[in-house]
Amino acid sequence: MCGIVGYVGGRPALDVVVEGLARLEYRGYDSAGVAVLADGRLGTAKRAGKLVNLRGALEEDPPPAGTLGMGHTRWATHGAPNDRNAHPHLDCAGSVAVIHNGIIENFAALRGELEEAGHKLGSDTDTEAVAHLLEDELKSGGDLAAAMRRVCGRLEGAFTLVAMHTGDPGLVVGARRNSPLVVGVGDGENFLASDVAAFIAHTRDAIELGQDQIVELRADGVTVTDFEGRPAEVKEYHVDWDVSAAEKGGYDYFMLKEIAEQPRAVADTLLGRIGTDGRLTLDEMRISDRELRDVDKIIIVACGTSYHAGLIAKYAIEHWAGLPCEVELASEFRYRDAILSPTTLVIAISQSGETMDALMAVRHAREQKAKLLGICNVNGSTLPRECDGVLYTHAGPEIAVASTKAFLTQLVAVYLIALYIAQVRGTKWGDEVFAMVQLLERMPEKVEKVLETMEPVRELARSLAGERCVLFLGRHVGFPVALEGALKLKELAYMHAEGFAAGELKHGPIALIEAGLPVVVVVPPRARDVLHDKIVSNIQEIRARGARTIVIAEEGDASVEPYADTLISVPAVPTLLQPLVTTVPLQVFACELATAKGHDVDQPRNLAKSVTVE
Ligand code: G6P
Repeated sequence: MCGIVGYVGGRPALDVVVEGLARLEYRGYDSAGVAVLADGRLGTAKRAGKLVNLRGALEEDPPPAGTLGMGHTRWATHGAPNDRNAHPHLDCAGSVAVIHNGIIENFAALRGELEEAGHKLGSDTDTEAVAHLLEDELKSGGDLAAAMRRVCGRLEGAFTLVAMHTGDPGLVVGARRNSPLVVGVGDGENFLASDVAAFIAHTRDAIELGQDQIVELRADGVTVTDFEGRPAEVKEYHVDWDVSAAEKGGYDYFMLKEIAEQPRAVADTLLGRIGTDGRLTLDEMRISDRELRDVDKIIIVACGTSYHAGLIAKYAIEHWAGLPCEVELASEFRYRDAILSPTTLVIAISQSGETMDALMAVRHAREQKAKLLGICNVNGSTLPRECDGVLYTHAGPEIAVASTKAFLTQLVAVYLIALYIAQVRGTKWGDEVFAMVQLLERMPEKVEKVLETMEPVRELARSLAGERCVLFLGRHVGFPVALEGALKLKELAYMHAEGFAAGELKHGPIALIEAGLPVVVVVPPRARDVLHDKIVSNIQEIRARGARTIVIAEEGDASVEPYADTLISVPAVPTLLQPLVTTVPLQVFACELATAKGHDVDQPRNLAKSVTVE
């Protein structure tokens, strides 16, 4: 959702804040704004549209130079994405500026109350109410932090708020409830942001804030308290990647860079998982082997691409660990009466660790006393704090909105968890687990090989840029891959795209097939002969009805050649691991097709990287 940056130190705040916003623009990009405090005055600028519009406005009419500032990129919830609704928002006197991520659910009542008391609100946002509430609280005494505490006590919903006040020109105050906010600790300067990417060029030392905490940021120090004003415990950490990881590094788009980084990301996620005794070890697991042996059911919850990783996990967990496994969209999970107990393991998968639907699903499972395991890519995010154990993927920062390298590393993580549970429960022998990990360790080279052979896929994508619809078919683990291929095309190319289980074709979707319709089919390895032969029949069925078949199959699979209008070969790997190689051509396909249509693949319309509202 929205991106937030705050700065206090010795440099021109505007430069630091705008640079931070550029690194956070993936979080929301329908408007942007900044506020700088200089000479006892707040200078603001805001513009609808991408950051480039704000930059233009700042060049034309720069605010006064100051060393205290904050900025915001917006993904609209309340009020249209126009200049008026862009953040920061000010109080009546223009002495308090506020930026916000999240939704203040009781804003209508607060707004009514404020208007009745004579406040003039100029926007349609929920955020502006906070600026006016702060104005009133400041009048009744105390500093900005005390006022923020009292205001937070009146707010319902999820929020990260950052505020500045002309009465305290050395202070930026942040507040956090259910929305991300991290502190960057510098030398004579400090930072606040939704994500460390905003300040990574200046410091790699960060502080993780907990729920319901207030942070007071000054050039010479950071104070963290709870909403009652009591000192809060904070967790400091060092970010293990540097600024180059958050830059395009010569690629036109982050997405292209992130696709290319996949072999390294997969290798990094596998690093150090085998102990000196040859057994699989998962360091941050924090759920004991005894507890894992007691688990009798697994439920996976996730959203978007992470949900597709969950669907693939089900096949691995049931096959290797012999445990029943359900997979559910996080947004649906807490609204039904799922049967959970202390022997249920809930695995939440989230790249960002901040997706509100996933966090709410985890909290729901916690109330029902289930064990909780998170799979997450972002250190310092909320999900790992709320789970009993965590497995970090080591994809590095993923900035393009459509997930690529995070997805492949999530697959590695779920394979490792499935194998670990199999090891603990004794459903696989130690040497079998070891052999499978060795196969996993060969996957980076296989993914690299796929990447080296993508030119025909790019060419194909360009040739299909005029199509209105593409279908994707798969069986077994190829089915979630088909869903992921379709999702990528929807996200990036804004095309109608659907993924189907190939076996379901004859129960309805086959009616969609018409002459020339492109249909991508993910073919399982030949070693799974029954699966393989069934899908070869499906290809013939759709081709007989005029479909243009685009077939992804393992190299040397001659049986599909007669029925493939286009054949995309991927290295031969075991069936369960095949999504690691079959997903890559679909990512490249969607990226190239969307680019050919002139779309910005890093920032697709209406989407945000990290969805921090329900
Ligand atoms: C958003 C993004 C998707 C992503 C999903 C889940 O919808 O646009 O690309 O897959 O959130 O995100 P998470 O961070 O929880 O994996």
